Amino acid sequence: MIRVRVPATSANLGPGFDTLGLALSLYLQVDIEWSDQNIIEFAGEGAQGNKSLPERNLVWQAADRVIQTAGHRWAVKLRIYNEIPMGKGLGSSAAAIVAGLTAANELLGKPLHQEQVLALAVEMEGHPDNVVPAFMGGLTTAMVDNKQVYYQKVRLPDEIGVVIVVPEFELPTGISRSVLPQQIDLNATVSNLQRACFLLASLHNRDFSNLDKAMDDQIYQPLRKQFIPGFDQVMKAAKSQGALGTALSGAGPSILAFCTASEQNRVAQAMQEAFSAAGVRSRGFSLQIDNKGTEILTDLNE
Ligand code: HSE
Repeated sequence: MIRVRVPATSANLGPGFDTLGLALSLYLQVDIEWSDQNIIEFAGEGAQGNKSLPERNLVWQAADRVIQTAGHRWAVKLRIYNEIPMGKGLGSSAAAIVAGLTAANELLGKPLHQEQVLALAVEMEGHPDNVVPAFMGGLTTAMVDNKQVYYQKVRLPDEIGVVIVVPEFELPTGISRSVLPQQIDLNATVSNLQRACFLLASLHNRDFSNLDKAMDDQIYQPLRKQFIPGFDQVMKAAKSQGALGTALSGAGPSILAFCTASEQNRVAQAMQEAFSAAGVRSRGFSLQIDNKGTEILTDLNE
């Protein structure tokens, strides 16, 4: 039996649309073994839906893709334990894809190289910003050239903590992407490019003094916030309690705030209160950055 553990991720971080991503200390764990029929046991976040049917389960779909690519038609048993809220902008689909591909690849004795697994994951997900940090951990910046995925990983300072506030409603990525413009004017492009580069360099240099401005995406969040009641107030509440910078997490609806560890609970509480004032129930998570990425725990001999 092979066990794989994959972290949640927060994409974009404001201006780094489809590029920047951060791995977080919430996990999807998958055990895989050969079986005479496809079986899925699913517990934790999202287990109450019917995603335990193999053909609807993304972990299984990804595992099956590797098994078929390797030329087999074998069945597997998957035991899934998920901590990542689903459909909330925390990379649950990327984690499922990465877990399924990695687990099946390990079970088959690694017929695919890591770059092939990464490229397959990005192809299944459609963009690299969640998949890459889910594999590699830390803060990553990714680019795709001719279907090949390139990335750089930046280790973030330990003193920085992350608050994620998760509203109770789901916002499918497809809906959140449907309001995005087909074309962007030059000024807006330059503005986001300046901010994305400034953000990466600030985090790398441990200079948090202008994170707030650097995370102020001028293109996507202003269009997406129509789906998130209380969005501006939640961002403001976080900053009022000392958050260093805030952003919509991926396609939303969760909101991310960077802050020091000692401020996490206060920031989370203020953000939840702001959501509550807008009539939205939410959950607050005080998290650390995950620097390990996907871990393979083999030979558990259960
Ligand atoms: N970069 C993606 C988006 C992340 O913002 O739509 C969501 O999966």
